[in-house]
Amino acid sequence: MVETTTDTKGKNPNQHNGTITLAEGQNGDGIISEKRKLYVESYGCQMNFSDSEIVASILTKEGFETTRNVDEADLVLLNTCSIRDKAEQTVRKRLTNFNKIKRANPQMKIGVLGCMAERLKDKLLDEEKLVDMVVGPDAYRDLPNLVKELDAGRKAVNVILSKEETYSDVSPVRLGSNGVSAFVSITRGCDNMCTFCVVPFTRGRERSRNPQTIIEECKELMVNNFKEITLLGQNVDSYLWYGGGLKKDFEKASDAAKASAVDFAKLLDMVAQEVPGMRIRFSTSNPQDMGDDVLHTIAKHDNICNYIHLPVQSGSSRILKLMNRGHNREEYFDLVHRIKTIIPDCGISHDMITGFPTETEEDHQETLSLMERVQYDFGYMFYYSERPNTYAARKMEDDIPLEVKKRRLNDIIQMQQKHSLANNKTHLGKIEEVLIEGTSKKSEDEWYGRNPQNTVVVFPKSNEKPGDFVKVKIETCTTATLLGKRVD
Ligand code: SAH
Ligand code: F3S
Repeated sequence: MVETTTDTKGKNPNQHNGTITLAEGQNGDGIISEKRKLYVESYGCQMNFSDSEIVASILTKEGFETTRNVDEADLVLLNTCSIRDKAEQTVRKRLTNFNKIKRANPQMKIGVLGCMAERLKDKLLDEEKLVDMVVGPDAYRDLPNLVKELDAGRKAVNVILSKEETYSDVSPVRLGSNGVSAFVSITRGCDNMCTFCVVPFTRGRERSRNPQTIIEECKELMVNNFKEITLLGQNVDSYLWYGGGLKKDFEKASDAAKASAVDFAKLLDMVAQEVPGMRIRFSTSNPQDMGDDVLHTIAKHDNICNYIHLPVQSGSSRILKLMNRGHNREEYFDLVHRIKTIIPDCGISHDMITGFPTETEEDHQETLSLMERVQYDFGYMFYYSERPNTYAARKMEDDIPLEVKKRRLNDIIQMQQKHSLANNKTHLGKIEEVLIEGTSKKSEDEWYGRNPQNTVVVFPKSNEKPGDFVKVKIETCTTATLLGKRVD
């Protein structure tokens, strides 16, 4: 079986396929409430999941309470993804499903949020008759007004992209949380303009969030007993706070603002010191922006996990150039070498795209040979999906036949599985620290959690609870999971 998205690991740090978060009731069971009910479903990347928590927070203040039951919802929001055509089709299908529910509950309003809202704007109202509201990723603060429009019987749209918005003062309502891990967003938008990618169009220009508000959010999570924080951005290494504003305007900032600027290495250092007992992760790192200072900061702090998600997209320098990735094959190898030198036991994962326009069999072999050399722990692999308005869509022909894209995808999946298994085998016999996240999906009698390198570890339950850090001796493994037993 070949899928467009293949996650060779338990948890995808950069997930762009149709995963659903159901909003949790925040009002306690059995209490009859007059509040209006909000149901949120999220698709795509972690940033969307994090944004849904911001949306829930904004609407909770407006008198909504969240529900997991769509049938009782007054307002249904779909936070959508445009990264590949398949992601959009998934949302379209879901909207069709809502027809039935809306027939039974005609008062119910449906809103589309996120990247599809931004990409399609008010066209979405024509294309999807069921939809009442369209809200882009920078317009969530306007939701209270938009809901008033709905109440007045009108359709509502706001897709304005912002230069400043980072929702820095919004304290997210943690939806569907395991109470252990949480996302904290640190940048929004992306300036990289990879030629295949729709994100710069749907999420706007890159801007960073005030570090003080990031730290406050992390501390609040610590007080609430969370144990793991993932700092989120499309390109976290490019984080730069100089008092607010777009990254591209940094050069125009005052000397004082420049002198007190906070970059990603500094931010990581600050967060690691402020929440000492918590694990810190981050995603995503773009190779062109990852500096040695970040690597040294990871090495310096025990609580920053030794794991880097480092998308490469192709092993061919020619294709990387056409993708506008900002680094070639050799520079990527150099970076991987520095990572392995500075952080010897660092886990590394990748994103890869097969069948980018003009990709030849030689290019594909280069991708396979890059993988052979890096020996990634795991990866997220996709075949190229042309996205309207991107540079690639405008200037290049989507000329690789689907069967070829799929065959190449299958080749890299096979290779990744081989590497994942080989890497997992190197853990056998070792004692590793695992943060327990919950009950294993396969067995009620087992916990699952992750080691610092982000590999899923499963072991028999005794008297632990989610959120505990335990030592597990690894005894066997599959391509995706390490299995062992507790030894402390
Ligand atoms: N900011 C991240 C990536 C965000 S998109 C970075 O630095 O790379 C997540 C992944 O989706 C990308 O890494 C890429 O592998 C994949 N992707 C993005 N656009 C795509 C497209 N048009 N077709 C197929 N896969 C795509
Ligand atoms: Fe997309 Fe490249 Fe940014 S993949 S999110 S344009 S780093």
